[in-house]
Amino acid sequence: MASVMYAVFHFAALQCSARPEISPCTCEMGKAFNHVELACEKLESFNAVVDSLANKLNSDVNIDLKITHSQLDDLEMRSFRDMNFNIYKLRMQWNGLRSLPELPFRGLSNVTYLSVADNELDEIPKHVLNHMPLLQTFDISRCNIRVVQQDDLKGIQKITNLILPSNNITRLDRGAFPLSLLILHLGRNQLESLNGSLAELTNLHSLFINANNISDLDKELPDGSKLRLLMAHNNRLEHLPANMATMDDLEIIHLHFNRLRSFDRVLRNAQHLTELLANNNELEYLAQDEFQSCRQLDTLNLACNHIRSLNFSLHPMVKLTRGNFSFNDIEEFSMEELHGMRSLRVLDLSYNRIQRLLPAHKHSPELALIDLRLDHNQIVTLDSALAGLSHLRILSLPENRIEYLQPGDLNGMNRLEILDLTANQLVELKQLETTLLPSLKILKVAYNNITKLEHDFYGLPMLCQVNLTNNQISSISSELVTNTRCKNHNVPGKLEMFLDGE
Ligand SMILES: *[C@@H]1O[C@H](CO)[C@@H](O)[C@H](O)[C@H]1NC(C)=O
Ligand SMILES: *[C@@H]1O[C@H](CO)[C@@H](O)[C@H](O)[C@H]1NC(C)=O
Ligand SMILES: *[C@@H]1O[C@H](CO)[C@@H](O)[C@H](O)[C@H]1NC(C)=O
Ligand SMILES: *[C@@H]1O[C@H](CO)[C@@H](O)[C@H](O)[C@H]1NC(C)=O
Ligand SMILES: *[C@@H]1O[C@H](CO)[C@@H](O)[C@H](O)[C@H]1NC(C)=O
Ligand SMILES: *[C@@H]1O[C@H](CO)[C@@H](O)[C@H](O)[C@H]1NC(C)=O
Ligand SMILES: *[C@@H]1O[C@H](CO)[C@@H](O)[C@H](O)[C@H]1NC(C)=O
Ligand SMILES: *[C@@H]1O[C@H](CO)[C@@H](O)[C@H](O)[C@H]1NC(C)=O
Repeated sequence: MASVMYAVFHFAALQCSARPEISPCTCEMGKAFNHVELACEKLESFNAVVDSLANKLNSDVNIDLKITHSQLDDLEMRSFRDMNFNIYKLRMQWNGLRSLPELPFRGLSNVTYLSVADNELDEIPKHVLNHMPLLQTFDISRCNIRVVQQDDLKGIQKITNLILPSNNITRLDRGAFPLSLLILHLGRNQLESLNGSLAELTNLHSLFINANNISDLDKELPDGSKLRLLMAHNNRLEHLPANMATMDDLEIIHLHFNRLRSFDRVLRNAQHLTELLANNNELEYLAQDEFQSCRQLDTLNLACNHIRSLNFSLHPMVKLTRGNFSFNDIEEFSMEELHGMRSLRVLDLSYNRIQRLLPAHKHSPELALIDLRLDHNQIVTLDSALAGLSHLRILSLPENRIEYLQPGDLNGMNRLEILDLTANQLVELKQLETTLLPSLKILKVAYNNITKLEHDFYGLPMLCQVNLTNNQISSISSELVTNTRCKNHNVPGKLEMFLDGE
């Protein structure tokens, strides 16, 4: 007996990856004290798993057992108890299991983590779960589960993480989910309704219901819920539930690819919201106080909607760094919309119908915008609306209708490196002659109507590349480039000019 104990002690204490005793299974020391990870892959039977592991470890070692890609048709013939050790984590993925017999799992009362994901189970193995009262995480992703029934999870009332994505669930019974749940994954199923099954889950902080066929969440989420993360993208939501206005803890909300027509001001109290993705919906309208308390918002994506005006609704967003409003129906954009948005770095207003840019009122605090995209709008003149954006590095204005630049349009853009005016209607670049863009490296003016170039690059001492293809250029003055000395990171380079027919 003493010698057996000795051997076992060494087994757990030493690096155990190459121990022949448990072959073909393998063993690694876990990260925590007294924890061991055992992995059995491609075994031809459960009997072989049991035989290779039985009595090989001290019963007080905590075992994380993984059995994958194996043939377990004989599961019912043996029991995990026969291995005679203390399993706290059990993973049985990719074994083609169609059902789980109860017997082998008897006595696994210390298991806190069970994964039977990636099998062919068509119902929740409730008889097995009844033997695991301490279970905290149950993963049954990517099987063929169709319903979650009222008593399916009754045996696991301490569970915090329930992971059910990529099944074929169409029905959830009321009262099916234990109230202990903190994290619930129901994404990629076939749900049309949550059926009131979550309405009591007041502890829930993360909910995944993405990629289902859900048309509303009315009365589905508990009032005053502690929800922090809501992943509801790729559904058929037409509106948000009114009680979302009471959910103060929301931090991340993904709603892209739904059919939302309005936020109905339900996000106005979301004071902890940092990320809101609602691109590819049918939003037309933003109320002025739509985001009244959203002072922590960092990322906002409202691209691909039908928004006509931002309606000064962004003003509370002093921490916003990325805003995407591309592919909407905005006709006029005032820089006053960005008032107070000191953190904004990237703003995408491409593919709207902007005809006019209006400057901000005087005394607006300085914007730190780095990347401004206004591609494919209907802008005719810049009207100096963008002047003074001293942090801007990329100004993207291709496919507009700009006919001429005015002196002052690009004033103060001391850090501008890339100016893209491709596919506009510029006839000349003469105004650049008197504009100083001390950092400009790349100028894109292909597909315009430029006919001649004289001293136009005088204000561009750092210019390295100009694309002038597809213009009507008939004369270029030899003095055009007398002031330019291309430099990349202070290393002298060569100015490249692309013209037609080189
Ligand atoms: C469960 O763990 C305790 C110690 O934490 C141990 O005494 C007991 O034997 C274990 N039970 C099983 C079935 O492994
Ligand atoms: C999902 O269930 C429906 C009927 O309930 C069935 O027609 C469909 O084939 C199932 N899909 C999968 C992937 O099992
Ligand atoms: C809703 O839950 C009830 C039981 O509470 C059940 O009978 C019904 O089938 C469920 N419906 C759906 C669509 O999930
Ligand atoms: C979603 O639900 C609608 C209405 O019930 C139905 O017509 C449609 O086929 C469903 N889509 C999918 C992918 O199940
Ligand atoms: C702006 O918001 C106000 C108040 O919420 C609303 O009355 C108005 O119609 C909105 N304007 C636009 C252009 O959306
Ligand atoms: C904004 O969204 C559009 C449409 O999804 C996308 O093509 C574009 O790359 C996004 N812009 C930024 C700056 O990420
Ligand atoms: C630019 O050139 C195109 C084709 O050469 C012409 O149709 C258009 O009227 C010109 N625009 C201006 C502003 O000269
Ligand atoms: C110049 O710009 C045109 C239009 O964007 C583009 O197709 C072409 O590849 C560019 N040429 C070079 C050398 O960058």
